[in-house]
Amino acid sequence: MRRPVHRWELGLSLDESDGAPLSRRIARAIMDEVRRGRLMPGARLPGSRSLAHVLHVHRNTVIAAYEQLAGEGWTEPLRARGTFIARSVPRMPRRTSRATTPIHAKPLQVRFDVPADTKLDVKHGGTGLRSLSDGVPDVRLAPVAALTRAYRRVLRQDPQDLLAYGHPQGHPRLRTALGEMLRSRRGLMAEADDVLVTSGSQMALELVARALLRPGDTVAVEALGYRPAWTVFRQYGAALAPLPLDACGLDVTALEALCERSAPRAVYVTPHHQYPTTVTLTAPRRIALLELARRKRFAIIEDDYDHEYHYEGRPVLPMASADGAGVVLYVGSLAKVLAPGVRLGYLVAPRPLLALVTALRASIDRQGDHALECAVADLLERGEVQRHAQRARRIYGARRDALTQALGRELGSELAFVTPSGGMTLWAAVADGLDVEAWADRLRADGLMLYTGRRYAYDGKVRGNVRLAFAPFDEQELAQWVRLLRKAL
Ligand SMILES: Cc1ncc(COP(=O)(O)O)c(C=O)c1O
Repeated sequence: MRRPVHRWELGLSLDESDGAPLSRRIARAIMDEVRRGRLMPGARLPGSRSLAHVLHVHRNTVIAAYEQLAGEGWTEPLRARGTFIARSVPRMPRRTSRATTPIHAKPLQVRFDVPADTKLDVKHGGTGLRSLSDGVPDVRLAPVAALTRAYRRVLRQDPQDLLAYGHPQGHPRLRTALGEMLRSRRGLMAEADDVLVTSGSQMALELVARALLRPGDTVAVEALGYRPAWTVFRQYGAALAPLPLDACGLDVTALEALCERSAPRAVYVTPHHQYPTTVTLTAPRRIALLELARRKRFAIIEDDYDHEYHYEGRPVLPMASADGAGVVLYVGSLAKVLAPGVRLGYLVAPRPLLALVTALRASIDRQGDHALECAVADLLERGEVQRHAQRARRIYGARRDALTQALGRELGSELAFVTPSGGMTLWAAVADGLDVEAWADRLRADGLMLYTGRRYAYDGKVRGNVRLAFAPFDEQELAQWVRLLRKAL
């Protein structure tokens, strides 16, 4: 559907030193803009009345300028629709003078080091490929109507509050609602003042890194893990130390051994559902990790990105709920429970650190979107988020089962996996001899993206694993993907 486009008023700069009559100066200014490529062939010029208003001249002056342009073939009238730059005017090569070069064509003149490996390492639309591996919610299920109503409600209730500058720590209403959720559902001793609202959990990770790390610091990470977090730690000069994983999650004895060699500043972990293997860190390992952090005085950055999606067994509370020593920096997100485009995350940390991080946040981004924050707070207060999470959990649990059954049927001898007790994806090992990269290449040629173990590996080496998402697809779609996976073998 074509959306109506509102046209901006045309800004023109007239040469004040030119003694020529005004109408000729207007015509010349327009010719100049055609020559430098700003006004393209076919572009519509404003009506004479509107341009006269913008330029503070009499309308007849603009009419005279337009007549001159038409007489010289620069413009053509198109029936009653207005005046357009003639299509016969050749497209002008862009001028190279700095004043007129479009910004994207300008060479960088300032001294500035762009690291050779700079690239946008996040997913975004527009690749034309359908990803089978992204652990994202099904946005078709997102509570759009409820969110729209909540947005309208809160903006009507208190526009002065929501549209003015507010507290960089986040709107108190959302911090209160999150504190309530964290205390009752997740066992954290958090009140509104212990919570910082961020633009997604990625911002929380960035702020923690900025506050905590100095060049040369060591940060321990999971040997298979979440690259966007590693990128942030590296940007602040940290040296990363990968730690092995097994069926119980992170190997804490390996971390202990690391502590003998260097004093890490922090360990970044995903204990609830290890990213990407979905393994839950066992209770003895959690206790050992908390104790080690207390003794060696390093921070545990706990990324609890998909807490709501646990399908079996008793709920596993975050490590932050058992932190008596103030070593855990707890990062959460609403990306999985609502939608990735709803940019809301949060950090819970000891207050002195939270105060520093809040000040850092204010220097990046004065504050978050308080209207959105209050709308989501409203949904939390009414129990809508909780109801949505419950529904999504039921649906994703069924999708997980549909995927495991389809894989058993179609790819039983090629893939081995443990049914994940939570999360939004499944981690599978491929049979010996199956070239997993070639498999992914063939799928890419069919427009499908399958992430293999290499993508998550700290060492970047090929691994015989694939990650398969079940949350964003319904049962039919899952069955279709599995058939396509089989076909591409
Ligand atoms: C391990 C991990 N942390 C955090 C996030 C969420 O990031 P954000 O809240 O910035 O969308 C994701 C999303 O994919 C993730 O996989």
